[in-house]
Amino acid sequence: MATNRGSFSSKAGFILAAAGSAVGLGNIWKFPFEVANGGGAAFVIMYLIFCFLLCFPVMVTEIAIGRKTQKNPVGAFIALGFPKWSFLGKIGILAGILILSFYNVVAGWAFGYFIQISFGNFEIGGQFNEYINNIGRVGLYGIIFMIATAFVVSKGISGGVERASKILMPTLVGIIVLLVIYSLTLPHAFEGISYYLVPQFSEINFSVIYNALGQAFFSLSLGMGALITYGSYVSKQDNIISSAAMITVADAGIAFLAGLMMFPFAAYISSGAVETVQGGPGLIFTVLPGAFESIGPVLGRIVGGLFFLLLSFAALTSTISLLEVPVTYAVDELNIQRSHAVWVIALFIFMMGVPSLISNGDSHFFTNFITYFGAENPTNFLDFVQHIGSDTLLPLGGFLMTVFAAYVWKKHNLNKEIEEGFPAFKGTLIEKYIDFAVSYLCPAILGIIFLLTVLSRFFGVEIF
Ligand code: PFF
Repeated sequence: MATNRGSFSSKAGFILAAAGSAVGLGNIWKFPFEVANGGGAAFVIMYLIFCFLLCFPVMVTEIAIGRKTQKNPVGAFIALGFPKWSFLGKIGILAGILILSFYNVVAGWAFGYFIQISFGNFEIGGQFNEYINNIGRVGLYGIIFMIATAFVVSKGISGGVERASKILMPTLVGIIVLLVIYSLTLPHAFEGISYYLVPQFSEINFSVIYNALGQAFFSLSLGMGALITYGSYVSKQDNIISSAAMITVADAGIAFLAGLMMFPFAAYISSGAVETVQGGPGLIFTVLPGAFESIGPVLGRIVGGLFFLLLSFAALTSTISLLEVPVTYAVDELNIQRSHAVWVIALFIFMMGVPSLISNGDSHFFTNFITYFGAENPTNFLDFVQHIGSDTLLPLGGFLMTVFAAYVWKKHNLNKEIEEGFPAFKGTLIEKYIDFAVSYLCPAILGIIFLLTVLSRFFGVEIF
């Protein structure tokens, strides 16, 4: 079976595709608003610590399991001889489906902004709420986005995923760097930067911690088997440690840059009062149009249009990997033809996203979907799916993944797989760290934070 599944044509291809999965709306849309929602620089620090200390070892584990078994997240556990653990792959597939259902909605918003800003409609920033409630229009953008995703995935692994990532990723980074430089020249840039980079440690509370952890997992595409799936296409000669390090640095680096761009812009728009800018999922959509307008009527349209176009492409390389997980499962385990699996699953997930699409005011029921125990205000459907699919299931997946690797599959097997493309791994400091993290640090910290998150977010029980 492994022979006709396809594979990445080179190590650079894998890294670009995996980084393409990691870099997306999570970095440019979600990261800045999570920073603004809670903690400012304190959140940034927690996020970076989680990425490098906890998520990096989980990433190494996922890629190693994928490469060892050349399987999807469910088949991988069966292939290793632990069929009972395939439930973990199933949790991952569920998380992927939930995430893609709302992610596609936001990707549709971004794609629509590309069109609006290209036509010079800078006022859209102040009309964000009306814009997302024009269901016919944003629904159409969502359909276009899901079709584009399904199209690339149906082309198979190296033809579609790899080629798309190779061109688009570097271009996106280039434009963000230019925008960072420009944003730093604007009035009030300093207020924005100090909000972003000068930590107020009194701001750290438990919700900052669990939001930062959820964000780190989401941003790195971890905890749901996306990297087991991508790892299954990686060659035995590749060095998993250096690949994972590059992906982590690229992803965290781009999120960091997105913040460097956003907060001076937010300070500029609000004349220095960053705290007053509308946070939440609307942050980039309300702030950026005004910032682009300041560049000039023509250049602003070009730069702004290009930015949202590239953001849509970054989202596309992420939706591709989200769809790839259930599709690879259907192809490997259910023997469904790839082209059929792709379109049926894409349609199903699009339908699941409709309640999220209408949950920002259009439908009263989905807008006020659920009120958690102890919460004052209801949570809308989109946020609810986000809380379950990403903030809860991903850290749970990461926790179980490390428990599995350390205590079921066993560390020496993990090490053996890592050594395949990195013979000198044994005895290095990094080996000792991975050993410690996978055996103790990740299971303990991820397990504790997972429990406290569920208690605090859904049941209103604050332990500290
Ligand atoms: N990492 C992506 C982002 O930051 O936009 C989102 C994502 C993609 C999460 C793929 C999980 C995943 F498997």
